[in-house]
Amino acid sequence: MKTEGSTRNSEPEVFASVSAPNLGIDSAECLVSEPSDPCTIVIFGATGDLTARKLIPALFNLYLNNGLPEPFQIVGCGRTQLDSPEFRNKMETALKAAKMSDNNKWGDFTAALHYRSIDYGNLESYNRLAASLKEIDRNNNTRGNRIFYIALPPNLYMKVAKMIGRAGLSVEMDNDNGWSRIVVEKPFGTNFQTAVELDQSLHEFFQEHQIFRIDHYLAKETVQDILMFRFANSLFEPIWNRRYIDHVSITATETLGVEHRAGYYEQAGVLRDMFQNHMMQLLALTAMEPPSRFEADLVRDEKSKVFRALRPFPTDDLRKYLVLAQYSAGTINGKPVPGYREEPGVDPNSLTPTYARMKVFLDNWRWQGVPFFMTSGKRLDQKITEIAIQFKTVPHSMFRHILGEAIVANRLTLGIYPEEKITLTFQTKNPGARVCLRTVTMDFHYHQSYTGPSLDAYEKVLIDCMLGDQMLFWRQDGVERSWSFLTPVLKECENCGDREEMLHFYQAGTAGPDASRILMVL
Ligand code: BG6
Repeated sequence: MKTEGSTRNSEPEVFASVSAPNLGIDSAECLVSEPSDPCTIVIFGATGDLTARKLIPALFNLYLNNGLPEPFQIVGCGRTQLDSPEFRNKMETALKAAKMSDNNKWGDFTAALHYRSIDYGNLESYNRLAASLKEIDRNNNTRGNRIFYIALPPNLYMKVAKMIGRAGLSVEMDNDNGWSRIVVEKPFGTNFQTAVELDQSLHEFFQEHQIFRIDHYLAKETVQDILMFRFANSLFEPIWNRRYIDHVSITATETLGVEHRAGYYEQAGVLRDMFQNHMMQLLALTAMEPPSRFEADLVRDEKSKVFRALRPFPTDDLRKYLVLAQYSAGTINGKPVPGYREEPGVDPNSLTPTYARMKVFLDNWRWQGVPFFMTSGKRLDQKITEIAIQFKTVPHSMFRHILGEAIVANRLTLGIYPEEKITLTFQTKNPGARVCLRTVTMDFHYHQSYTGPSLDAYEKVLIDCMLGDQMLFWRQDGVERSWSFLTPVLKECENCGDREEMLHFYQAGTAGPDASRILMVL
């Protein structure tokens, strides 16, 4: 039996170092390649968690690194009745919690921070917002360029997008408007049908070039690096196929539980929360063909072809391809943690999976027969995000009669978290008289010799949106293909009589359910 990522040598690995030059590029140049147009960023859901934890810290950090356009304005909108000074105080508290407050600069930054309370279902409220945005433009010369960031629960996406449109705010280059862009968070729909409906409602007022469907994984530095690594080196591409690769493992495990998001997670589960979006993007970047140019639509065309090549799961024989599980009580970092069913807001009989492992195949020339194992789950023993390319063993071992053992195959790992690194393992001779092999690991740390500022995923998302660059955002055809692969699986899992039987359990703080090993057999 071959097992995934099997390492047969038991000796400790020896590390080889890699040198990386410091390019000495001005840090500001690394942050933004070109300044974006002046603009106003309008955040719907401004009193929510995402705004406080991610968006305002990201905007402030960009401001500190001269990454925002000049001038810029930020308008927070929410149902809560607040005035702008109260909103600024609230955001300052959030920044302090993130240990980011810089008193000198914060004062300057907040001069551009406003708050407008809004009734999400009331057109009059949006008309008032439109008038207010015009006034902000007049006073600050932001030229009518606007980003509408929908940081709200998914059930409000359609309503808010429509209202923005009906208030005339999606119109570009007319009536004092400059450009207008809408940013939609994941999840983009809950299945194929709802994703299509959401898209149709966005398109009622916005055109495709105005719609930015976020997947924060795409904005991670090391995820962006996958294409550079694959297509800026001639070394790996010729062997990046079924002839040399045994299997690929894509892993995104977490130690965190469901936290305060039970309401959403109970409906979503791990397949909608992680697989439909982040895991599919990692798969596409690993498996896609090289586009002729590094441009948003050409890259997204190639990704779509990967989704199209996904072999549908036989829904009557799912268990050979998919393991679903839920965490029970356990221990994480020495602390006892409750099981999923004991989490606040979770149904005590919930059958929502918090872990999934699947084996998928791509029906195309390059990947025929190569399994891609994708694993993601909450409350596991480690937080790890990585892509491991397991190469085949040598076709014939001329050392067998001396060493009496199989030779460990090469493995290339693209580490995304916790360490941003690329490692390659290979065999060398162990020094000394005896003929003996040892596994060496060449280890490149992504930030080695780089001294400039690093961009957090949300900072990158915001910059690209200001620049109108859709490279790191989902295009609708990709969203639909991803859903059309998963929707039949979800239907089968959620409606089948033996739903309960399909769900395994794993103790929090462990490596996942034993059942997932079944999928390892190639
Ligand atoms: C989010 C999911 O999209 O990604 C969360 O909704 C998950 O459930 C998170 O925890 C993981 O992101 P990261 O960047 O921490 O790997």
